[in-house]
Amino acid sequence: MYKIIIEGNKKLTGEIKISGSKNSAVALIPAAVLCDEEVTIANVPNISDIDALDEILNFLNADVMRDGDTIKIDSSKIENKLIPEKIAKKLRASYYFMGALLSKFKKVEMHFPGGCSIGARPINLHLKGFEALGAKVEEKNNLFIITADKLVGNKINLDFASVGATINLMLAAVKAEGTTIITNAAKEPHIVNVATFLNNMGAKISGAGTSEIKIEGVEYLHSCFHEVVPDYIETGTYMILASVAGHDIEIKNIIPEHVESLISKLEEAGVDMEIGVDSVKISAPEKLRPVNIKTQVYPGFPTDLQQPMATLLTQADGKSIVNETIWENRFLNLFELNKMGATTELLTASKAVIMGPSKLKGKKVSATDLRAGASLVVAGLIAEGTTTIENADYILRGYEGIVEKLTEVGAKIKLEEVDE
Ligand code: EPU
Repeated sequence: MYKIIIEGNKKLTGEIKISGSKNSAVALIPAAVLCDEEVTIANVPNISDIDALDEILNFLNADVMRDGDTIKIDSSKIENKLIPEKIAKKLRASYYFMGALLSKFKKVEMHFPGGCSIGARPINLHLKGFEALGAKVEEKNNLFIITADKLVGNKINLDFASVGATINLMLAAVKAEGTTIITNAAKEPHIVNVATFLNNMGAKISGAGTSEIKIEGVEYLHSCFHEVVPDYIETGTYMILASVAGHDIEIKNIIPEHVESLISKLEEAGVDMEIGVDSVKISAPEKLRPVNIKTQVYPGFPTDLQQPMATLLTQADGKSIVNETIWENRFLNLFELNKMGATTELLTASKAVIMGPSKLKGKKVSATDLRAGASLVVAGLIAEGTTTIENADYILRGYEGIVEKLTEVGAKIKLEEVDE
């Protein structure tokens, strides 16, 4: 267990380089299992979710070599074993092994995945999609047994544009007989990144990044080199942070198009940004205007930036409304922000009001999930005094080198191990 300790109220300046996307990398690694040869993935972030996937690959007897941010995976001798519940529960993305192993072996047994407690997080759309491809799904005490004589392409319309279901169904369909068409597919940048990876191996996927994805099944997937796309949620988190605590912070290695919805909200709040081809320079303005935000699937405002944005809104001059439409339980950070002096209130389970500006004071707070943790890091950096964020392990799941990156720009921040 870890805690993060921040001495706040320091202006930050300098450069921050964005790492590879967590939500892309956690799908690419299970996708690598589908390859019939060795694959190389570069720009993999060094975060604990990747360590958990590494553990799963090792358990399945894949050959894995990690060297810095590069990972080489050879799954030619992989075994189809039940991943122990303790490892599967370490992260949400363990469910991508359902699609990958089902595709490879026509049978998979998997426990219900883990992940941050931000809502019920059902996987019904994944399972319905597997069934549409010809699989039979049985569930016994949270253990899913999915079998198929063969997988055959089909038309699958998702009731909701789920990121996880879209990726899992691409994985399951990539070697199926015939053509699969996923409609109302998710359009997030990681969907495109995973489809490109599979295509680099010889898959025939078109339409990724639009709401209709077409997958023509192939028999063999060959070796390839692939790079993880820059993390647009990490990008957005540092942009928000720079908007409240930065002086000429330059955020590099970004794809501005992926954070367009955030850019437009920051502009509305009065933040001046110098946007380059793959970078953005931000200084915190004297005064921020309140803005309303509503989370939506990509390209709408991302739910994963809602919590860090809530911290920014505590500094805006007036009343902001935050409407969370994706997850049922993503406001727990507000209770912690209130402890630090913020004025926030839940209007309904999915709607909160934030009144600003509030002077935040350093306190002992707790990260309840990854992005709640990011929200508290931003708060700690602008608060007066010392903020101690307990349960910082959540933050390490998704932000590579956050302590080092922030120290580089002048923050007084440290990570400490807590005796259990
Ligand atoms: N949903 C269903 N049934 C399903 C699947 C999803 O009802 O079978 C619902 C969910 O309950 C939720 C909504 O659909 O209300 C969105 O779920 P989605 O499947 O899109 O989310 P996910 O794949 O479980 C990924 C990211 C999340 C991110 C969401 C939305 C990964 C590993 N996780 O989750 O990331 O919030 O997409 O963009 O890619 C994070 O990084 O902090 C994080 C939680």
